[in-house]
Parts: sequence; structure tokens; C-alpha cells
Amino acid sequence: MTPISPDAVIGVIGAGTMGAGIAQVAAKAGHPVLLYDAFEGAAQKGFDGIKKGLNKLVERGKMAQADVDALLSRITLVNGLEAFAPARVVIEVIVERLDVKQSVFSQLEEICADDTILATNTSSISVTAIGSQLKRANNLVGMHFFNPAPIMKLVEVISGLDTDPNVADAIYELSARWGKKPVRAKSTPGFIVNRVARPFYAEGLRVLQEGGADEATIDAVIREAGNFRMGPFELMDLIGHDVNFAVTSSVFAAYFNDQRFLPSLIQQDLVNAGHLGRKSGRGFYNYSADAEKPTP
Ligand code: NAI
Repeated sequence: MTPISPDAVIGVIGAGTMGAGIAQVAAKAGHPVLLYDAFEGAAQKGFDGIKKGLNKLVERGKMAQADVDALLSRITLVNGLEAFAPARVVIEVIVERLDVKQSVFSQLEEICADDTILATNTSSISVTAIGSQLKRANNLVGMHFFNPAPIMKLVEVISGLDTDPNVADAIYELSARWGKKPVRAKSTPGFIVNRVARPFYAEGLRVLQEGGADEATIDAVIREAGNFRMGPFELMDLIGHDVNFAVTSSVFAAYFNDQRFLPSLIQQDLVNAGHLGRKSGRGFYNYSADAEKPTP
């Protein structure tokens, strides 16, 4: 397989919480980046978010304005999947749904070169299942970043049953070149982190549901006594409840409804209400501009 050159075109599909951050990481590493989102205005919103974050770094003296300008100039917003024809790697960062991901990859296969690497940032869905509809499932690999993508070092490189080991190697090397700490994993439900972390959220939600303590108390205990950077409720607000609930539901189903992974009604309610966490301004905590300060 031809190696991924430092100036290879990287495509990113989905410009939400994770996609924008991943586009930033790739552009920072020097790649021309194509960024697409199916929803009107979402790619621009993602781009504006990148710009805002980088401007803060300039204000704090952590990045030069010229470097920010150069990074931003490498990101091109595109209007459709056809624009991904020149991409060497396309990273899918869309809604956590098997059918939607399968459909996007099937379309990409018709557009991209035969050796284009197709990577999915799925948190929990089987890479084998996503690839099952593809003619070239060997080109599909999991490339699972963590939130926020520009800061968190870990990338899980997930091989499905049909993933070509050379494709996984190429993504492993690319992640390392981007300053990340890649780790290899097989496509088991939730992979490594989202499997091990499920009880962190689930038990927090159970304590809350049983009235054992409120969310702020649980978060504070975990942060201050447990030395975690965030408690479960703050972290779920950061991740987004739609995404976190979809991940739990997918791991629950993949383990044949094992009760250890039972999704929470409290979280389902938040999703139903559109209280998705930081990205919607409200989740367990209030992040709206007029809130004095997100509590705790
Ligand atoms: P998000 O909801 O913030 O962003 C998803 C974006 O994809 C939205 O802008 C939406 O308009 C767009 N989109 C949806 N369907 C699309 C389609 N068919 N074509 C093009 N764009 C489409 O979601 P987020 O949090 O960025 O998650 C995306 C993926 O990354 C999911 O698979 C999720 O499991 C995974 N992930 C999320 C993490 C998190 O902490 N939020 C961490 C690691 C992985």
C-alpha cells in the first residue's frame, strides 16, 4: 500500500463536536482537509468553532496568528460527498447509527479511489458490521479519537474482521505522526475505553436515580476524591447525551441485552427533551450564556 504522505488530502465527514476537532488536528499536521456536513450551516459552524478555539490560543500566546491562518487556510468546506474523490483518507464522524454510516461509506466507495482508506470515528458500532455492505471492506478501519480531539492523545485503531492489517498500520502510523498515542484494538462492542467506561456513567446515573446523591455531589466526589478530571455527569454533558445514549444502547444490544449495560431512562429523557449537554446549552448543567456559570 502507498504510504499516506504528509500532504495527502484528508476528508472529514461530519463537522460536529468531534469532526471539527479532527479536521483541526489533520490541518495542523499540514494536510489539506475537506470538511463536509449534510446539515445546512453545520460545516461553517464547525469551522467557526475551530477558529474561535485557535484564536483563544493566540490570545494566550500559545500559537502564532500566522500559524492559525495557515492552518485555517488548509481547511476547505465542501458541499457533497463527490468532493472527496481526491482524498487519501476519509474519516467519517457522523451520527452514531449503523444504517447511516453504512450508507455514507457505500456512496464513498463509488466516489473515491480503490485504495482510499475509509476510517470511522464510531464510539461503539462494530467496524465489521459497518464494512459488511462494502465491496472493499478491507479498506475500512476504526479511527476513534477522544473528546476534545485536538487535546486528547488517545486514538483507538480498530480492526474489523475484514480490515487489511496494512490499512490499520497506515492509520496507526498517521495517528502517531499527528502527535497522538494510537492503540490497536479488535472490533468488540465499545472497543476498549467505551467498554470499560460504561459503568462509570451507568453507576453514576443509578446513584442519581436512587436519590443517593445529586449530580453535582457525585461529580465533585469523583473529581476531588477520585482525582478524575471530570465526574460522570460533566463528562456526559461534554460528550453529548444523544451520542452517549446511542453508545450505551449499541453496547447493550451488542452484548445481547446484558443488564450491566442497561441504558438509563434519565439520559433517555434528556435526549427526548433535546437537552444534549454543552452543545445544546443544557444537559445535567446549564451552559447558556445567561447562566451565571455552568455549575458546578
Ligand atoms: P455531533 O452530533 O456533534 O456531530 C455529528 C455531525 O454529523 C453533525 O454536525 C451532523 O449534522 C452530521 N451528520 C449527521 N449525519 C450526517 C450525514 N449522513 N452526512 C454528513 N453529516 C452528517 O456528534 P459527535 O459527538 O461529533 O459524534 C460523531 C461521531 O463520533 C459518532 O459516531 C460518535 O459516536 C463519535 N464520537 C463521539 C465522541 C464524543 O465525545 N462526542 C467521542 C468519540 C467518538
